[in-house]
Amino acid sequence: MKRSPLRQNTANARQTTERRVDNRQLRLLRLGVMGNGDDQRRLLVVWHSRTGASEAMAREAARGAGDQILVDCCAASEASVERMLSATGFLFVCPENLGGLSGAMKEMFDRSYYPLLGVREGYPYGSIIAAGSDGSGAQRQLDRIVSGWRLKRVVDPLIVNFDAQTPLEILAYKNVPEETLEDCQNIGQTLAAGIAMGVF
Ligand SMILES: Cc1cc2nc3c(=O)[nH]c(=O)nc-3n(C[C@H](O)[C@H](O)[C@H](O)COP(=O)(O)O)c2cc1C
Repeated sequence: MKRSPLRQNTANARQTTERRVDNRQLRLLRLGVMGNGDDQRRLLVVWHSRTGASEAMAREAARGAGDQILVDCCAASEASVERMLSATGFLFVCPENLGGLSGAMKEMFDRSYYPLLGVREGYPYGSIIAAGSDGSGAQRQLDRIVSGWRLKRVVDPLIVNFDAQTPLEILAYKNVPEETLEDCQNIGQTLAAGIAMGVF
């Protein structure tokens, strides 16, 4: 029996949607993040650091996250698309450079932006920015990028100013004050607890 044009259009639309879903599943399967039976909740702490501050803060946050969930802490250069796709929550830690995210952190987002688009909507995130005197530009840029992924901020942003103004101060290795490390631990703990309990 011949279908009416309306029913034919509906059937075509359904087929197109199904094909789109299939393509996405296929892509995720190829990336190894579906169908492997791994439904473990995982916090990914991604950092970039030139003079030590962000790395120290990221490691402290990862320590604070404890062992309630899997915690993966890696440099932005090591944050492959597969690794990003295996995360169920994110903490981004990097310096502000030239008014925005540091280059290596931005490169991580450039690399993973489209593979993650539409597949991590509503997932929780937090951020820690190391800065010489400002940090707000990097903060804004980060929030704008992840709003494209529809990530949900679940901890207040932390910007840590190291009062580095001269080239010598800026290029010097940074020691992170104890109370700041505690703040970082708390951020890690809050993120991990929320992810573990499924409240975000
Ligand atoms: C090339 C370069 C550009 C920077 N630009 C900024 C900036 O725009 N705003 C700011 O507050 N700090 C700026 N800083 C200072 C760093 O953000 C600061 O030293 C930070 O603590 C470095 O973090 P890290 O130790 O994790 O590398 C800049 C540093 C460098 C090396």
